[in-house]
Amino acid sequence: MSTTYTLGHEDSEVRRLLLQGRVYRADTKHALQLAGLKPGMRVLDVGCGPGDVSLLAAELVGPTGSVHGVDAADVVHLARSRAADQGVTNVSFTQSALDELVLEEPVDAVIGRLILMHLPDPAAALRRLAGLVRPGGVVAFAENDIATVRSYPDIPLFQTVTGAVARSFEALGLDISFGPKLGALFQEAGLGIPKMAVGAPMGGADDIDLLTYAAEIWRLVYPVADGLGLTAGVPTPDELLPLLQREVEAARASVMMPPQITAWAQVR
Ligand SMILES: C[S@@+](CC[C@H](N)C(=O)[O-])C[C@H]1O[C@@H](n2cnc3c(N)ncnc32)[C@H](O)[C@@H]1O
Repeated sequence: MSTTYTLGHEDSEVRRLLLQGRVYRADTKHALQLAGLKPGMRVLDVGCGPGDVSLLAAELVGPTGSVHGVDAADVVHLARSRAADQGVTNVSFTQSALDELVLEEPVDAVIGRLILMHLPDPAAALRRLAGLVRPGGVVAFAENDIATVRSYPDIPLFQTVTGAVARSFEALGLDISFGPKLGALFQEAGLGIPKMAVGAPMGGADDIDLLTYAAEIWRLVYPVADGLGLTAGVPTPDELLPLLQREVEAARASVMMPPQITAWAQVR
């Protein structure tokens, strides 16, 4: 199956995606509402992973609508069983690479989160995906801006780790400032100037999901960071969470994880 996804689907990556789903849930829901997801719509969620965005969209389109999630990896099995466990019946999933995807009829909306940045030619993919939407329907994509993650006040440990994470993502060939480029990308794909919104999860020492998410990202890229010589004197992923929590608490700091930028446009 053709995919350029470099982050894999080890247990730890699936765990990270589930945590990410929780941490970004409110921002994603808000953005999808702004983009115009409404009861009764038929939605395609591309690069659905374990299904968080599909399940959110299923909530917004309600029992009269439907959502179909597609992913190149067999993580769709997990998405399916999560939907079944939650009793969600208006969502289905297929394992397919995006460039092999064929629909029997156009949908009302194509959506995706953290997928375009992994594709070799995101503008061409966006143009093709927009072609699966009926005229008047919606295309909405969310991507993040890893480059602007920070804490207030600055915490040296957080700065060191997030700096190493950013360099590791770049070493994996990923653009750490992809989100802010969505506006230009939509125009390149022939969708005009999109509407946009930004939201970032932010919290302090008691926000365990948020700090664990930071530690799990460090775990994800640790072997790459190690290969780049960025781990000397830096806590391991297992050591990071308690240390970070202590420093955030001592500084009464607030930590902001990567802002998520959503862009949407109507298909003409
Ligand atoms: C970072 S994950 C995001 C998952 C989900 N959208 C979310 O926000 O939780 C990106 C997903 O895109 C999938 N993916 C990457 N390239 C793909 C392609 N060419 N076709 C289909 N899926 C792809 C990966 O398998 C992975 O599950």
